[in-house]
Amino acid sequence: MSAQVNEALPRFRPMVEADIVVILEIEESAYTHPWTETIFSDCLRAGYCCWILEAEGFIIGYGIMTVGAGECHLLNLCVRPAMHRRGIGGRLLEHLTDLAREHHAEVMLLEVRPSNAVARRLYYNNGFNEVGMRRNYYPAGNGREDALIMARSLV
Ligand SMILES: CC(C)(COP(=O)(O)OP(=O)(O)OC[C@H]1O[C@@H](n2cnc3c(N)ncnc32)[C@H](O)[C@@H]1OP(=O)(O)O)[C@@H](O)C(=O)NCCC(=O)NCCS
Repeated sequence: MSAQVNEALPRFRPMVEADIVVILEIEESAYTHPWTETIFSDCLRAGYCCWILEAEGFIIGYGIMTVGAGECHLLNLCVRPAMHRRGIGGRLLEHLTDLAREHHAEVMLLEVRPSNAVARRLYYNNGFNEVGMRRNYYPAGNGREDALIMARSLV
């Protein structure tokens, strides 16, 4: 007897190269300064932790992080805009946090735009604190924007 997979339930799976076309559509609709195809390909080739959350065969969100030397760095966390505010960002973050712990990371770090109030709130609500600032880190409409560095203990 083979196991049945309920396609309607959201499920996590590793990202593969063939996902990038759809991911780029989501990325470009969700960010003012989206990542390019090359960046996603490079992340996969480098063996970063690249995960998809999908439901009913559709990608609804994804997250990318690096893990090593006792810490992990969240590089991208994104939810399809039509699916915002349904707990999907929180689920992705939880999944990546679990994976980071499995890899013995003790701290999770990320950068976020100070203007990204929604993401900052998500991170605050999940135990992150501001630990620093990188000046002129992001491209912005008229020049550059600083990045807030946020961190969360995983132990
Ligand atoms: C940030 C992002 C991933 C959140 O995803 P999401 O699925 O909407 O988030 P959730 O539904 O899990 O919400 C979790 C928390 O985020 C905050 N949040 C989410 N949407 C919000 C909104 N519109 N206004 C205020 N807070 C919001 C809330 O704290 C929420 O907790 P609550 O349920 O107690 O209100 C999503 O908005 C996104 O993809 N944004 C574009 C990409 C991006 O900016 N990524 C972060 C880069 S650092």
